[in-house]
Amino acid sequence: MKNIIVLVSGGGTNLQALIDAEKRGDIRGGRITCVISSKADAYALERAEKNGIKTVILARKDYADVHEYSKAMLDVLDSEKADLVVYAGFMTILDETVCRAYPNKMMNVHPALIPSFCGKGFYGLHVHEAVLEKGVKVTGATVHFVTEECDGGPIILQDTVPVLNGDTPEILQKRVMENVEWKILPKAVALFCEDKIKIENGRAYVNE
Ligand code: GAR
Repeated sequence: MKNIIVLVSGGGTNLQALIDAEKRGDIRGGRITCVISSKADAYALERAEKNGIKTVILARKDYADVHEYSKAMLDVLDSEKADLVVYAGFMTILDETVCRAYPNKMMNVHPALIPSFCGKGFYGLHVHEAVLEKGVKVTGATVHFVTEECDGGPIILQDTVPVLNGDTPEILQKRVMENVEWKILPKAVALFCEDKIKIENGRAYVNE
């Protein structure tokens, strides 16, 4: 059984999708053993506690800089014996030591079709604001491995939804979450735990 550690900062609906998938038996090769939050008041922590999952608060403001914070994060990941680290709405930057220590073992869900609307400054509702501003007709979400390049690691799964006339950032965010994020994140985690994702030449290939 692989130990899945989930990193959160906010509401935790993607964490909830993972918890529900595990309960349904959809994640056969792993179990969520710890949730780490960068914010003490993240609702995601309550979701974890309600489901008997260990929680750790690593508040960014308690550390002098990104390197101190990353060192603390690495210490927790190592002591929890992480096999897979999942960014589920984790909004805090870590330095390169963390993804180097867990190569192709950290994944992130991003609320757009990478390589569009990603990178620095593209997070949460801002992504959907940018999508509406540009006027694209299709958007979606991406699950990818975390590398040193922000939102630049190998893409594991993507899926799409239409952008409709009259959408607001909030309406679009809800459509992307419900139809894509909450499905592809648990699926990618399940695939990883069954060793069905291979990396070749910096690209991820899924063998279902
Ligand atoms: C999700 O839409 C996730 O894709 C996004 O933040 C939201 C978190 O919601 N993540 C990013 O923008 C990361 N760049 P949640 O806390 O309810 O899962």
